Amino acid sequence: MRCPPITLATLVFVLAMPALGLTVRGFAADDSSDGGIKISPISGDPDKPRRHIRIENPADLSHQEAREVYEELVDEMTSGYALSASRAAMSYESWTVYNNAPYRSVTHGQRFVNNYGNGIAAPYGDFESAGTMPAGSILAKDSFTVTDSGDVEPGPLFLMEKMPKGFNYVSGDWRYTMIMPDGEFFGETNGKRSERVEYCIECHLAREKFDHLYFIPKAVRVGN
Ligand code: HEC
Repeated sequence: MRCPPITLATLVFVLAMPALGLTVRGFAADDSSDGGIKISPISGDPDKPRRHIRIENPADLSHQEAREVYEELVDEMTSGYALSASRAAMSYESWTVYNNAPYRSVTHGQRFVNNYGNGIAAPYGDFESAGTMPAGSILAKDSFTVTDSGDVEPGPLFLMEKMPKGFNYVSGDWRYTMIMPDGEFFGETNGKRSERVEYCIECHLAREKFDHLYFIPKAVRVGN
């Protein structure tokens, strides 16, 4: 196979990809090629992102298609996240899932996502009536990318864990964690590289009266 020419810009971009929350197989990220995953990069300091990486050419999938892609990919996703040795990352797949099909989340980089909750997080199933979630609740949102040209990639795992009162006033005592598809810890509130997940707190803060939770679009809630 002939290698595509690598420009300096491409090389710098590819090297920066892990920090930007991206993994791409081969050179699919080079958006000068046909297809591939087209990304709108984040300007400014990659260690203090203001928002998620965003996929510019996500696919439109029916619920059934989204379920099928997820079924194909879920083992690869969970074994990647599990390399982080986070207990939540190793077990979330056995928790309750609150959406009936993976849906595209504009606010999580245009990736397809699912929302899971552990046993303590059971009130999440009441959605807007859930009230303040008990300490020990963990919500896990796994993610994957599907582009309009059919490229499929695991995305990060997003976690919110309700910590004991006093953990972090601004975050509503939620600990936000982002784990990369290869198991790398991207950042964690009040933990390692917490500045990298500050933007999670900021956006979720707009939902303070719902204990910082946004819930799932109505059309994809279980029971609908
Ligand atoms: C720009 C706004 C925005 C940012 C930034 C954001 N989120 Fe969210 N988050 C949402 C919205 C909207 C939902 C619900 C709908 C959806 O899934 O798209 C949500 C849902 C969630 C959920 C499920 C619980 C709930 O609120 O219903 C988790 C877990 C989560 N986000 C984690 C994270 C983490 C971790 C980060 C940072 C790495 C993050 N979010 C950054 C907007 C945001």
